Amino acid sequence: MAIDKKIKEKVEKLRDKLNFHNYRYYVLNDPVISDTDYDILMKELIELENKYPELITTTSPTQRIGEELTGGFPTVSHSVPMLSLDNTYSEDELREFDKRIAKNLISEEYEYIVELKFDGFAVSLEYRDSEFIRGSTRGNGTVGDEVTKNLKTINAVPLRLISKDSKLKDIEVRGEVFMSRPVFEKLNKEREKNGNPLFANPRNAAAGSIKNIDPHIVAQRKLDIFIHTVVEPHPFINHLDAMENLKNAGFKVTPVLEVAKDIEDVIDVCKKWQSRRNTLEYGVDGMVVKINNFEQHKRLGATIKSPRWAFAYKFPAEQAVSKIIDILLSVGRTGTITPIAVLEPVQLSGTTVSRSTLHNQDEIKRKDIRIGDYVIVEKGGEVIPKVVKVVEEKRTGKEKKFRMPHKCPVCGSDLVQSEEEVAVRCINRSCPAQVKGSIQHFASRSAMDIEGLGYVLVDQLVENGLVKSFTDIYQLKLEDLVNLERMGVKSSENLLTAIEKSKDRGLSMFIFALGIRYVGIKAAKILSSEFKSMDNLMKASFEDLESVEEIGPIMAESIVNFFRNEVNKKMISDLNKSGVKMQLLKKNKGKISLLGKNFVLTGVLMDFTREEAKETIESLGGKVTSSVSSKTDYVVVGENPGSKFDKAKILGVKTINEEEFKKML
Ligand code: IVH
Repeated sequence: MAIDKKIKEKVEKLRDKLNFHNYRYYVLNDPVISDTDYDILMKELIELENKYPELITTTSPTQRIGEELTGGFPTVSHSVPMLSLDNTYSEDELREFDKRIAKNLISEEYEYIVELKFDGFAVSLEYRDSEFIRGSTRGNGTVGDEVTKNLKTINAVPLRLISKDSKLKDIEVRGEVFMSRPVFEKLNKEREKNGNPLFANPRNAAAGSIKNIDPHIVAQRKLDIFIHTVVEPHPFINHLDAMENLKNAGFKVTPVLEVAKDIEDVIDVCKKWQSRRNTLEYGVDGMVVKINNFEQHKRLGATIKSPRWAFAYKFPAEQAVSKIIDILLSVGRTGTITPIAVLEPVQLSGTTVSRSTLHNQDEIKRKDIRIGDYVIVEKGGEVIPKVVKVVEEKRTGKEKKFRMPHKCPVCGSDLVQSEEEVAVRCINRSCPAQVKGSIQHFASRSAMDIEGLGYVLVDQLVENGLVKSFTDIYQLKLEDLVNLERMGVKSSENLLTAIEKSKDRGLSMFIFALGIRYVGIKAAKILSSEFKSMDNLMKASFEDLESVEEIGPIMAESIVNFFRNEVNKKMISDLNKSGVKMQLLKKNKGKISLLGKNFVLTGVLMDFTREEAKETIESLGGKVTSSVSSKTDYVVVGENPGSKFDKAKILGVKTINEEEFKKML
């Protein structure tokens, strides 16, 4: 039966209203109704759509979160390539850029628009008949991945344009997806608690999220977007005009658009925002300078890499001065002692920094770092800031030299330093710090992969005497867990299920989980395919081990020592009795399929950190090197690749994208 026209109109009206209020809230940051009233409208629409499912459209406000993708992301060829920007850290090079513009435009007048350079993830959004139909990543600039479903979860992406301007019906726009700093910090805290690897910075978090195959997860990541480009053909005369129109159509456009009459003006604006960058809730890594007039864009044209009408001025890595209040020692899972500087809290790149690793005592000596010193700290793309150098002029003479103690700060055992190492270590295997560290390692994703057993819970379990060794994990009962802080019945049950599942990880993950010194993921795989059972491995002599290709004498000795230890032997036998499988998994049998292959990584990979990609390649027998040469077999090209990509093309080395890389694995 045909649906009553009135109902159709009602549904459309509700959608228009919801789109408008979504725009007021997420784009203009200026809501005109309460959240409750918004929810009432949404509920009304959901009820109508439930009653008349034929009326559901893919761009209805109820459809922001869709179903998980199967089979990876389809690819999209960009109608106009997504280029990058030439960039500089120097004012003089901005002046050079201006000279080139003046030369090319001969005696024409021109003006610049200066805007923020968002440190995010480039995407393109296509609209047909005012509806959002497709969104894609930059990829290699010519072909990207289709991530429409994920982009729909971003509230600032209009699903339907709100202006009725027919000029805008069929447009493509480009912008940067980003994660605000508060959202990023919350996410990383959560990940740390759950034992998941941390994202190094908001940019990686945004990139990793947009490439997640599950829109439900993407929606939780609370991403945002700024639009900075409209793709040809379009009806606008200049950039300002375009941005104004896009804003009115419902897009969240770049919030800073400063007109500059000449390059000195441009430099002033860049400097102004450089000093203000920390007042923003999102990361910016510089400013983008663009010629305003689109006719002039056409005349200036582009090289294969970047347009000639735009230039990026990049901000230098941020530094701050802080005082070293103390130097603490952290004890790692293998007993390594790492000195950590406790700093007077200081704002750096929008976050409060109060700690920095000093690596080891040699590093402290080399930089002559003393307690009480003022130091320059810098935050690059990494999570942990580093101490660049001491501000010697600020020395008062009261600073104290750091002395590495002779006793472990956690268990009081003697610390030792072997000849071949800079690091000092605690050799007491029952040191609580090592116990916690090794249990965290045992439960981590690449080892036994016990979901939910992150550092907070490990801490609680060890502190409460519930877990002293790996074996104790498999003896945990519901009643042990429910009484712990922040653990309810549901989370306790989930943990017990995860522990049960971990029994089936197979031999190589188990060997890695044991945390034998020098035995990483790759060595664990080689050992498992070589010895095929725990029994065989435990019986292996130094010579047996050393005869395996890629197992050197140091590792062989470490393995023999580990299995000679009675405590370790008993632990393995107890784990076996608890049901932990120690056989080869079928799928892992002899899986060293990348043996002898040389890889180079460039750009940001979405499903792996650099370290994970490297470990995975190495675990399959391949090698990762830092520069491209004729010996390189594959260059794995992520988003925004660097010069290694160009070098691969010049040398004719095979390049593969992340999808191809994953297939290869
Ligand atoms: S305009 C080249 N404006 O920076 C195409 N790009 O390093 C013109 N970016 O690929 C881009 N903020 O993804 C433009 N306000 C902004 C930007 C911006 C960040 C990104 C963009 C580009 C990359 C180049």
